[in-house]
Amino acid sequence: MKKLNVGMIGYGFMGRTHSNAFSQVNHFFDVSYRPVLKTVCARNRDRAGAFAARWGYETVETDWRAVVESPEIDLVDIASPNDTHAEIAIAAAQAGKMVMCEKPLGRNAAESETMVRAVEAAKVPNMVWYNYRRVPAVTLAKQWIDEGRLGRIFHYRAKFLQDWTISSDLPQGGEGLWRLDVNVAGSGVTGDLLAHCIDTALWLNGGISEVSAMTETFIKIRKHNLTGKVEPVGIDDASAFLARFHNGSLATFEATRYARGHKALYTFEINGEHASIFWDLHDLHRLQYFDHRDEGATRGWRSVHITDSDHPYMKNWWVPGLQIGYEHTFIHQVADFLAALGEGTSAAPTFGDALLTDYVTDAVLASAAGRRWVTVRAERGKDANA
Ligand SMILES: NC(=O)c1ccc[n+]([C@@H]2O[C@H](COP(=O)([O-])OP(=O)(O)OC[C@H]3O[C@@H](n4cnc5c(N)ncnc54)[C@H](O)[C@@H]3O)[C@@H](O)[C@H]2O)c1
Repeated sequence: MKKLNVGMIGYGFMGRTHSNAFSQVNHFFDVSYRPVLKTVCARNRDRAGAFAARWGYETVETDWRAVVESPEIDLVDIASPNDTHAEIAIAAAQAGKMVMCEKPLGRNAAESETMVRAVEAAKVPNMVWYNYRRVPAVTLAKQWIDEGRLGRIFHYRAKFLQDWTISSDLPQGGEGLWRLDVNVAGSGVTGDLLAHCIDTALWLNGGISEVSAMTETFIKIRKHNLTGKVEPVGIDDASAFLARFHNGSLATFEATRYARGHKALYTFEINGEHASIFWDLHDLHRLQYFDHRDEGATRGWRSVHITDSDHPYMKNWWVPGLQIGYEHTFIHQVADFLAALGEGTSAAPTFGDALLTDYVTDAVLASAAGRRWVTVRAERGKDANA
């Protein structure tokens, strides 16, 4: 088995999920590479050192450039805030490293395009962590749609609801709150939460041609943690949009951090000519399925428990009937990345795939700002509305 030395940038929420995935993958999946937790990088050496000791990283760096330049590192994994993604990814690609990057790829599509160009020019394997594709139930939904079980698709409905920014006392910016600082995050819930919904939707139902959106910033000024001053809030707190897919189906998408009682409720429902599917992150191992072709007397919504060995990824885990959880989606993503590497390719979503999500989020923000329908960019570097 070949060793793959990992350089991890960031030790926060995603630094933990990724470190766990690299540590666990060889215990459960037969792949020809063995990730080694070589170096973790964050600006605070003591805290990065404590993280390294807990997870087994061999060395610590405080400047990501040292990771990118190190001849010891094969793969640079970017798990730091959105404003760092482009610079690190481009430098890593130019240094000939494989690159994994957290979502959203860049803060906007123009930034993401520079990243796509860099990995393509360097011909380095690359992937973006849109991990919900690897929930076994979501992967199974993809298989059912591709098999034609639903028939022609009429409707796609997705929501991602949270409630953690309702207090006007919450500051913006800095550690833990960079998501509220538009310069760091790029946008609010559109690039953070809706990006997940859009990536899944593009994967399950194909491209989106046009959108009509509205966004709102409910709390318009907040103290900034880095300047100490009360400053305007530049992010969208809530975002909702109508969309038309290339296949003729219609969609509604909604994300907010102001839905009291909801912590991370991602749901989608797809209605086709023959059948419908509903999925809910709070019950992530189940698919709700209705098939109109069932015999009338027993026809109804089925709740399918996605834990059998013939369900995606599940033969690698425990025994039928026992479920897995959120952290496993990252392990699946690493397993697929390493399997693709063995075949000399990149696993989806690549940087190029993730750019398509940014074209949609850019169109959503432009539509909301201009109060009009916006055509989603279909080709790189060309803006259909320009
Ligand atoms: N795939 C998902 O479901 C998912 C979930 C959460 C976050 N994310 C994405 O992951 C990324 C990180 O989010 P998070 O929630 O882990 O954030 P976090 O605030 O928990 O952690 C960020 C980490 O980055 C480090 N960091 C910041 N600037 C740095 C720099 N210049 N150099 C090196 N390290 C630096 C911080 O020290 C911290 O360890 C974001 O892009 C976010 O959108 C994705």
